Amino acid sequence: MAWISETDLGTKAVPAAPLVTLSIDGAEVRVPTGTSIMRAAALAGTSIPKLCATDSLEAFGSCRVCLVEIEGRAGFPASCTTPVAPGMSVRTQTERLTQLRRGVMELYISDHPLDCLTCSANGDCELQDVAGAVGLRDVRYGYEGANHLEGCKDESNPYFTFDPAKCIVCSRCVRACDEVQGTFALTVDGRGFASHIAASQDEEFLASECVSCGACVQACPTSALIEKEVEKVGTPDTAIVTTCAYCGVGCTFRAEMRGEQLVRMVPWKEGKANRGHSCVKGRFAWGYANHKERILNPMIRESIEQPWREVTWDEAIAHTASEFRRIQAKYGTRSVGGINSSRCTNEETYLVQKLIRQGFHNNNVDTCARVCHSPTGYGLKTTFGTSAGTQDFDSVMQADVILIIGANPTDGHPVFASRMKQRLRQGARLIVVDPRRTDIVRTPHIEADHHLPLKPGTNVAVLTAMAHVVVTEGLADEDYVRARCDWDEYAEWAAFVAQPERSPEATEALTRVPAADLRAAARLYATGGRAAIYYGLGVTEHSQGSSTVIAIANLAMATGNVGIEGAGVNPLRGQNNVQGACDMGSFPHEYSGYRHVSDTTVREMFEAAWGVALDPEPGLRIPNMLDAATEGVFKALFIQGEDILQSDPNTQHVAAGLAAMECVVVQDLFLNETANYAHVFLPGSTFLEKDGTFTNAERRIQRVRQVMRPKNGYADWEIVQNVARAVGLDWSYAHPSEIMDEIAALTPTFARVSYAALDEHGSLQWPATDAMPAGTPTMHIDGFVRGKGHFVVTDYVPTDEKTGPRFPLLLTTGRILSQYNVGAQTRRTDNVVWHPEDLLEIHPADAENRGLRDGDWVLLRSRAGETTLRAQVTERVAPGVVYTTFHHPETQANVITTDYSDWATNCPEYKVTAVQVSASNGPSDWQESYARQAEQSRRIAAVAAE
Ligand code: SF4
Ligand code: SF4
Ligand code: SF4
Ligand code: FES
Repeated sequence: MAWISETDLGTKAVPAAPLVTLSIDGAEVRVPTGTSIMRAAALAGTSIPKLCATDSLEAFGSCRVCLVEIEGRAGFPASCTTPVAPGMSVRTQTERLTQLRRGVMELYISDHPLDCLTCSANGDCELQDVAGAVGLRDVRYGYEGANHLEGCKDESNPYFTFDPAKCIVCSRCVRACDEVQGTFALTVDGRGFASHIAASQDEEFLASECVSCGACVQACPTSALIEKEVEKVGTPDTAIVTTCAYCGVGCTFRAEMRGEQLVRMVPWKEGKANRGHSCVKGRFAWGYANHKERILNPMIRESIEQPWREVTWDEAIAHTASEFRRIQAKYGTRSVGGINSSRCTNEETYLVQKLIRQGFHNNNVDTCARVCHSPTGYGLKTTFGTSAGTQDFDSVMQADVILIIGANPTDGHPVFASRMKQRLRQGARLIVVDPRRTDIVRTPHIEADHHLPLKPGTNVAVLTAMAHVVVTEGLADEDYVRARCDWDEYAEWAAFVAQPERSPEATEALTRVPAADLRAAARLYATGGRAAIYYGLGVTEHSQGSSTVIAIANLAMATGNVGIEGAGVNPLRGQNNVQGACDMGSFPHEYSGYRHVSDTTVREMFEAAWGVALDPEPGLRIPNMLDAATEGVFKALFIQGEDILQSDPNTQHVAAGLAAMECVVVQDLFLNETANYAHVFLPGSTFLEKDGTFTNAERRIQRVRQVMRPKNGYADWEIVQNVARAVGLDWSYAHPSEIMDEIAALTPTFARVSYAALDEHGSLQWPATDAMPAGTPTMHIDGFVRGKGHFVVTDYVPTDEKTGPRFPLLLTTGRILSQYNVGAQTRRTDNVVWHPEDLLEIHPADAENRGLRDGDWVLLRSRAGETTLRAQVTERVAPGVVYTTFHHPETQANVITTDYSDWATNCPEYKVTAVQVSASNGPSDWQESYARQAEQSRRIAAVAAE
C-alpha cells in the first residue's frame, strides 16, 4: 500500500469558460476565465503559500500569506481572491514577497505553541509547511505578549478534539461547516485579538448543533481540530481508496493506515458521489470492525436450544453443505433457499444467488431490498424501462425545484443532503411531502416553499391530486408527452386524474393536506423550471409502494421532467449496495440485469455458463419462505449479512418461520438477533477486509479495496465459494475481479465493467457504452429505455391497516443520522452518544390526552404486538401520528409492524401501523428477558474473543 496524496489547488475550479493566457513566474499558463491566480499557479506546478484557502471552499482572503506581485499593478494582491486576466504577468517568488510572508508568519507563530515535535499533526500541518516554505527561523515579537496559549481544549466530541491554543482563526472550519456541510454550527466569535472559534452559542462541540460530519476537521490547516485517533495512534503513513459501507450515497474515502492499524477515513475529493465530503458514520463510525463482540470463529449447534460450539472452518463449511443436501434429499429441491444483503459487495451477492440457482437448483433467493426498494425496481421498470434512478447526484445542482417525498435526506443520506442544501441556498425551490416536519423543511438559510404533512398511507392520493392540478390547469408538457410517451395511455391517465373526486379539495379530508397548499405545490413543481423528485422508504414501504413509485413517474413524465439534467426521479437508496444487490439477480424471479427466469433465451445463457439446468419457475420471496417454513415445507436458509429478525416486519412471524427450519446459516459480523435461531454461524468480514464493488443510488459502481487482512480468516466471497465447493460446484475464483468479469459477460448493463475500467475511470455509472465509457449520468435522454414512456393509472386504495377506537394513532418509522438500520454496526461505535435508545415521537396534543410527558416510558401497542420505549413530545409529528426508529433491538419496533405489504412486491408496510400509546412503568417482560439474553451473548462473545 502506498500513500495516496491529494493536491490542494487552493481555490475551487470554475465552470467551463473560455481560456485565458497569462504568465506566472515567466511560464505561460492557460486556464478558464475566472480561475484564481493561486489555482492557475498550482495547476502549473507552482505552489503559493496559503493558510485560509483550500480548494473545497470559496476563497476568503484573510491570512495574507498568498500575496503575489502583478506587473503594472500596485500592491501585493492575495492570489486566492484575484482572478487571472489575459496577458497578466504574475510573480509568486520574490524577495519582497518572502519578507512579507515571513512577517505574517511571525505574527501567527508568536501566538502558537512551539511544540511541533510532540504535536500529533507534526508532518501533516499546513502552518508548519508554510513556516518552512517562507524560511521562518526567528520570531521578532517573542512569545511573551498576550496570547491564546492557555485556551481550554474541547474533548467532548467522541471523535475529534478542538484545541483553541492551536487555532489561527483562519475560519476554514466555519466555512466548511457553512458551505460544505450546511449546518452553520460554527462562528468566529469576538473581535480583533479576542476573536475565536465558537460552536453554536460558545458551547462544547457535543452540546452544539454540530453533526460531527468532520468537514471542519478536514479543512483545518493546523491540529486545532484533529481526530482523536491520530492523537492516539500517530499520523498515518499509507492510504488506500475505498467506499463507505453504510448508506446508498456511496462516499469514497482514503483509508489512512499506520502500519496495520486504520487511523482515519478521509473523504476522497475525487469521489464523484461525495466530492470530498462525509457524514459521521463513514468518517468516524468504523470502530465496529475491531469490536470485541465480533465473532471470528465459526460455530455450529444441533438445535437452537443448545449452546454454540466453536469449530474449524472446514467443519462448519462441510456441515452446512451436508445439511442442505440432506434437507433437499428429504424435503425436496425447493425446501432450501438463501437471502443476501445490500451490505455486501456486488460480487458476494452475485455468488449467493448463483449458489442457490446453480448449486440448489431453485430460485429461492431474495434480498433485503424486498423490505425497502423492491417497489422502486417494479415501478421504474414498468414506466421507464429501467429499475434505477434517472440522475447522478451532481444533477441536483441544476435543479430549479426539488420535491422530496417520503425521504429524510439530512438523516438518511446526509452527504447528498448537503449538496441539495447547497443548491437550495443558491435559490432552488423546495417541496417536502412527509408526515413529519423533517429537518430540511426548515434549516439554516433554507425554508421549504411547501411542506405537505400528509396522513401516512395517502401518498397515491396526494400525488394524484397534484397530477389533477397539472392536467386540469393545463400545466402538462403535452409536446414532451407526444414525443416521448404513449399518448393514448397518457390520455387515459389524464382523464382519470382529472376526475373531480381526485382534486385536492375532494381528497383534503383524506390526505389531511390543505388543498390550497397542495395546488400551490403542484403548480410550482410543474412550472418552476427543472424539477427533480427525490424519494425514499416513505414511498416504497406501503401497501401501495409500487403504485406510489408509478404515480411519481407519471407526474414526472407529464411535466417533461425525465431525461434532462436537474430533473428526474431519484430513489434515495437505504443501504450502501441496494442498487447493486438488485442488479445482481438477487430477486427470486430475476437473473442479473433484471431478466426474468422464465425467459428461455436468458436462462439458456446462464445454463450454458454454469453447466446446469436451471429452474424456470420464480422462487420464494422472504415472507413466502417464512410462510413455507411454518407450513413445514421450507427447511433450510442461508442468510448472508442480514438480521431479518430485527429488520423484517412482524417479528413474531419471522421468529416462528426461523424456528420451524432445520438448518439456518447466518453469515455475519456479530451474533445478531437472527442468529438466535441459527444452527451454523459463519463469521463475516467487514468492508475494510475485502475487495469488491458497491453500486450506489446513482447506479455508480465503485471499488471496495482491502485495507486490512480479514480478522476471521476469509473474505465473505471466499466463504460462499467454499460452501459452493463443498456442495460439489467447481468454483475457482482467485479474486473478486474474476467474479465481476463473469457478471459482465452475463449481464448487458455491466458489459463494460471490469476492475481495470473502474481503476481507470474511478467509477462507472451503468450503463457504460462506447459513447459514454464512464457511464450514463442521466438516463432516458434520447427516449425511454423501454421505448415509449408508459403511463399507468394508479387508483388510491386505502390500506387494510385501519385506525379505530383501540388503535387510534398511526405509527410511522424511520432512521436518524448517527445510527444505521438495525444498529449492528453503529451501536458498536461511539455514535451511541447521539442516540442511546429509540424514542417515540408524539404530538403534544396526543401526549396530553394520555397524560404523558417528555421522557415518560410508554407502552406502544398494535394488532401485531407491543413494546415499551420513552416518549419524546414534539410538534415534528402531526396530531394522530407517532414515529420511532428501529436501531435498537431492546425496542424491536418491528414487533409492532404488521405483515401488510405492497401489492406488487411484498415490500412491508412499515410506514403505516395503527397503534395505541399509553403510560407504562418501564420495559415489558420480553424486553427484560431480551436484555438478559443479550447480555449473556455479549459475555459469550467477549470470552470467545479473549
Ligand atoms: S463536524 Fe461538521 S457539523 Fe460539526 S462543526 Fe464541523 S463541519 Fe460543522
Ligand atoms: S480551528 Fe482550524 S480551521 Fe478553524 S479557524 Fe482554527 S485553525 Fe482555522
Ligand atoms: S453519507 Fe452514506 S455513504 Fe456517505 S459517509 Fe455517510 S453513511 Fe457513508
Ligand atoms: S490563502 Fe489567500 S489570503 Fe489566505
